[in-house]
Amino acid sequence: MKITKAVIPAAGLGTRVLPATKAMPKEMLPIVDKPAIQYIVEEAVNSGITDILIITNRGKGLIEDHFDRAPELEYALTSRGKTDIYDEIVNISKLAKIYFVRQKETKGLGHAINCARDFVGGESFAVLYGDDVIMGEEPACGQLIRAYEEYGKGVLGIKKVPEADISKYSSLKVEHIKNNVFNCTDMIEKPQTPEDVLSLYSILGRCILPPEIFDILDNTKPGAGGEIQLTDAMCDLARQKGMTAVEYTGTRYDMGNKLGIMQAAVETALKHAEIGENFKAYIKELAASL
Ligand code: UTP
Repeated sequence: MKITKAVIPAAGLGTRVLPATKAMPKEMLPIVDKPAIQYIVEEAVNSGITDILIITNRGKGLIEDHFDRAPELEYALTSRGKTDIYDEIVNISKLAKIYFVRQKETKGLGHAINCARDFVGGESFAVLYGDDVIMGEEPACGQLIRAYEEYGKGVLGIKKVPEADISKYSSLKVEHIKNNVFNCTDMIEKPQTPEDVLSLYSILGRCILPPEIFDILDNTKPGAGGEIQLTDAMCDLARQKGMTAVEYTGTRYDMGNKLGIMQAAVETALKHAEIGENFKAYIKELAASL
């Protein structure tokens, strides 16, 4: 069956980016002139997704406003003859069918995904983490969907992380199948000792899950950090049936930490049609003085 539904968990507290995220969701942090979550919705749409559920909570109303129509703004843009930006603004509300549900308590990513049960029904679905923006020629979510169509199992989007950082991520046991595709049979969230590390491959930002994940999540106990971890539920799935893992192409920016936010901004500004040239000249001048 074709994957047409996606879930974007965006209910986290974003404590690593305070105070910016005290009143503003981290998913709304701009990368030059577009909020992070719009890049993620566009990636989903470019991968063939038609229906998107965004998991929010209190204080995330700005996300709903961003994907809604804005009649006053639209009127002002039309009357000033700003037709290009008018079209761009209206199109944001037409990207996909976007739904919202609130995660009533912030109990972890697994708990957030479990709020999507009714939306998903009995289908497999894509998950795009709301603070991981991935830019590249081919949408990362689409690369995972292709692997799902070929192997028929849940799919994990993976990349290698530096050894010094693996304790902050998940660690996967993988066997190479072909090219950038692996079979994953075990995993652990935030390995605390070198013996726990299964490999330096970690799940980063994207996955495709079968609907069985919801029954597993119902029985998943709080894990690392006292949160209901999606990795723990996916671990059950991987041990039972195996999951496919795809080392996707594209650059991932972690919008959940300050360095990631700045890398996304600088690299995007350098390529930006309107300010790219001037920004490059500025960066060169600045770099020469460092
Ligand atoms: P993070 O692990 O980055 O959590 O979540 P966080 O709480 O937002 O960040 P810090 O550690 O406090 O800075 C990864 C993704 O899962 C979502 C987040 O919004 C983010 O997109 N999430 C996390 C939820 O939707 N609900 C949760 O309970 C936890």
